[in-house]
Amino acid sequence: MDTKILKTNSDGYDTASKILQSGGLVAFPTETVYGLGADALNNNAVSKIYAAKKRPTFNPLIVHVLNLETAQKFAIFDEDSLLLANKFWPGPLTIVAPIKADANLSKLITAGLETVAFRVPSHPVARKLLKEFDGPVAAPSANPSGSISSTNAIHVKNGLNGRIQAILNGGKCNVGLESTIILSKSGECSILRSGGIPESEIEKVLGYKLSSSKNPDSPIAPGQLSSHYAPNAKLRMNAEKAYDDEYMIGFGDVVGQLNLSSQGDLTEAATNLFSFLHMADEDAITLGKTKIAVAPIPMNDLGIAINDRLKRASTPKD
Ligand code: TXA
Ligand code: MG
Repeated sequence: MDTKILKTNSDGYDTASKILQSGGLVAFPTETVYGLGADALNNNAVSKIYAAKKRPTFNPLIVHVLNLETAQKFAIFDEDSLLLANKFWPGPLTIVAPIKADANLSKLITAGLETVAFRVPSHPVARKLLKEFDGPVAAPSANPSGSISSTNAIHVKNGLNGRIQAILNGGKCNVGLESTIILSKSGECSILRSGGIPESEIEKVLGYKLSSSKNPDSPIAPGQLSSHYAPNAKLRMNAEKAYDDEYMIGFGDVVGQLNLSSQGDLTEAATNLFSFLHMADEDAITLGKTKIAVAPIPMNDLGIAINDRLKRASTPKD
């Protein structure tokens, strides 16, 4: 069965919401990347996410809700996590907090952990779907496990066609990088994954430096696995220029077949990153190139998350 592409009209929302209600899978746009949604209260539905993505079941999922009040029914927010939720939600921030004893979420979502991840997306299509479905939606990024996230409906279709019922087509995602993930535990926040909100902005609100629980060998968030977000072609970072067998993605004055941002703007570069990696993977074959080279990206603001994704994309998948 082919995956249906749904328009964002009342028929589209109705169909998408009915698929969720009947335990099926629908991909939908968020401001970061496309998510692959299932009813978070339905164990059978959530298990289909792992099957469709070929995702290891030890990798927990993010639950998407309309507001903080709904998230608080399932997880315990302390002073710091409330500060962050009030400041950055709706938006590209995920908060991992202790799960409440009576939370009736599918057990597969947390992969046996005592914490659960919540996100309140700002994208109008995601919000309209959440409103129409009227329940929590578990959604990882809508791509096969380990490969590049999807920032438009075609990426989703190319990666998951026939494995999910439908894609709600809301065009391009404007942030282009996944959410920043913060762990709130024992009265302090730490960072699990850099993403759409720069760490410096979060630190400003909290008034302290975020420690990082990043350990690629025993990841708490498998988005931390050293090989992830990987294109098929081999990728080289910090390239000033391309070798003959390389397809070049430029930035600023470093030119290439594509340029993440000729103005050197990191927000624009983040928006373009995944869609350029998808394009480079295809175009490299046409041009007879076997590798992808990416220009140096400065390590500040969104550049931290961009470099993080490039590093994982350049690590061989063993
Ligand atoms: O922007 C995003 O976050 C997108 C959109 C669709 O919301 N979602 C996304 O989901 O990137 P996913 O599954 O590709 O990445 C979520 C990450 C995973 O690395 C997972 O391990 C981590 O969140 N995670 C989820 N629950 C967790 C928990 N309880 N403790 C630690 N990490 C958790
Ligand atoms: Mg992902």
